[in-house]
Amino acid sequence: MSKLYEQILENNRNWVKSKLDQDPDFFNKLSQGQKPPLLWIGCADSRVPANEITGTQAGEVFVHRNIANMVIHTDMNMLSVLDYAVNALQVRHIIVCGHYGCGGVQAAMSNKSIGLIDNWVRHIKDVYRFHQEELDAIQEEKQRFDRFVEVNVIEQVYDLAKTSIVQNAWNEKRDLWVHGWVYGIHNGLIKDLDVTCKDNSDLEEVYKIKF
Ligand code: CO
Repeated sequence: MSKLYEQILENNRNWVKSKLDQDPDFFNKLSQGQKPPLLWIGCADSRVPANEITGTQAGEVFVHRNIANMVIHTDMNMLSVLDYAVNALQVRHIIVCGHYGCGGVQAAMSNKSIGLIDNWVRHIKDVYRFHQEELDAIQEEKQRFDRFVEVNVIEQVYDLAKTSIVQNAWNEKRDLWVHGWVYGIHNGLIKDLDVTCKDNSDLEEVYKIKF
């Protein structure tokens, strides 16, 4: 058995001990159930661990991650997480958190095949097409990449706002905020893109659902 494999199991036992030292009831309380106020939709990238970078504990964030933090409205996995978070857990905030240097977004800027994932990356290429004028006008490649990461997050915020799940919650006058953030792998800081939605008023007319 690899050393790393054994090491992470030992890390787990050490973590349990440190949690119990701080609060002997820590796991008893968690085992009663969860009521996280946040749903996090982030990238699968190993460098962007939701709890660690936000200083949140077990029980505080409901998490969905995939390549390039995409909200694909036919993705049953994402929809199930979203429905459970909004309707069962009644989260108050949904955060789409992208990150600079995202490999999925970078792949979408390139024409190179990387296998099956080409089909997932296609959704990100659609975002490029929606913002082609702005992105093509940025001469410097790194700047264009950074901006593509940002507009991708913004599109995913609106994709969440367009879902029947989120619009239904707003229709029921529930307090539900959708935010777009970008994490800096190079400095650890989160940038709020200030595209928060709390109702469907920013959506184009064709996407508004009348209940
Ligand atoms: Co990424």
